[in-house]
Amino acid sequence: MEILNVGLGENSYDIVIGKNFFDKFPKYIEKIYNGKKLFVITDSNVDKIYRNQYEKMFKGFDYTIYVLEAGEKNKHIGIMPGIYSAMVNAGLTRKDMVVAFGGGVVGDIAGFAAASYMRGIGFIQIPTTIVSQVDSSVGGKVGVDLPEGKNLVGAFHQPKLVLIDNYFLNTLTDRYFYDGFAEIVKYGCIYDKKFFDRLMEIVETVEVSYDDENYKQKLREHLMKYVNELVYRSCEIKKEVVEKDEKESNLRMILNFGHTIGHAIEQFTNYEKYSHGEAISAGMVDITKIGEKKGFTKKNEFLKIEKLLRALNLPTEIEYPKDRISEIMKRDKKSTNDGINFVILKEIGEVEIRKIGEREIFE
Ligand code: GLY
Repeated sequence: MEILNVGLGENSYDIVIGKNFFDKFPKYIEKIYNGKKLFVITDSNVDKIYRNQYEKMFKGFDYTIYVLEAGEKNKHIGIMPGIYSAMVNAGLTRKDMVVAFGGGVVGDIAGFAAASYMRGIGFIQIPTTIVSQVDSSVGGKVGVDLPEGKNLVGAFHQPKLVLIDNYFLNTLTDRYFYDGFAEIVKYGCIYDKKFFDRLMEIVETVEVSYDDENYKQKLREHLMKYVNELVYRSCEIKKEVVEKDEKESNLRMILNFGHTIGHAIEQFTNYEKYSHGEAISAGMVDITKIGEKKGFTKKNEFLKIEKLLRALNLPTEIEYPKDRISEIMKRDKKSTNDGINFVILKEIGEVEIRKIGEREIFE
C-alpha cells in the first residue's frame, strides 16, 4: 500500500493506493472517523457488480446504500432533493459520514451532497474508474451540472480520505478503462515530461502491434501491470498542484488542459456521444494544434500527444461546429468578460495560461 498525504492544513487527508485491499477499508475508515453511520452513494452499475462486497468494505459500520442511476446525464441539480431526503430519513447528522463509491459522477454528486447537507459534513472517496482515481476524487471539487453548463453549481469540499483500489478497474469496459488514460496523459503534458515519456515507453513495450485484433485487450493487460505506478504519480502531481492553489486562483487552472474545448464537446453532444476522457483527448490535441498555429507551442509537439492518445485507443479528432462550441465555452466557469483562460502547451511538460476570446481561439 502506498500513501500520499494532501497537505491542506486542517483539510489535509490521505490517499491510500493499493491492489485488492477493499476488505481493509474499515481499518482506514476507523482511523479518520469515530462514528458508526455511513451514507454510501453509488450508481446502478457499480451497485450491481459490487453489492456482495459491501459487508467486507464497510464491516463494523451502520451503512445505508443510496443508488443513483448511472451516467453523466444524471448529474444535474434535480437529483439533489431526493438525496437530501434520503439523508434525513437515514438519520444522518453533522457528525456522520458520506461515502462516494463509484466514478467521477458519483464522486461529484456525493461530494456536493456532503458539502451542502447541514452546511457540510465529512465524506470519503472510493473511486472505481481510472478517471476518478487520478483526477476527480482528489482536490475537493464537487458539484452538479445545470442545463446551461457542466459543474456550474458546486463547492470546494475536500474528502477526509481517498481509498484507491485497482481491484475495481477489472470490471470497467475497455472504453472506460482507456477513457481514464486521457487524464494521465494530461499530467505528463502539463507538469512532467519524464512521466509522459514513461507512459509512452510502457505503451510501446506491449508485445502486440496496433493492427492486431487483440491489441486493446493485450495493452490493457500490459497497462494493469503498471497502473498503480501511473495512478500514484498522477495523484502526486494533482496533490502538488492543489496544495499550492486549492481554490484555483492560478496554478490549479493547468489541470484544465484540453478541458475547455473538451467540456464544450461533451455538452454539445449531450453527454451521450463521447465520454469525458474521449472529449478531453480530442480537446488536448486541438488546443495544442491551435497553440502551434498561434506561435505559442513548440512545433510538432501535438504529434507526440496524438501518437500516445491514439495508441491508448482514444480519439484525437472530433468534428464540431466552431460557432456552437464558442457559445458553449463562453458560459464555461473559466470564461470572464474579456476572454477565456485557456491552458496552452509551451512544450510537453510545460503549460501557460492565456486569456483568449472564445471566437479568436479558432481564428
Ligand atoms: N479536474 C480539475 C481540478 O480538479 O482542478
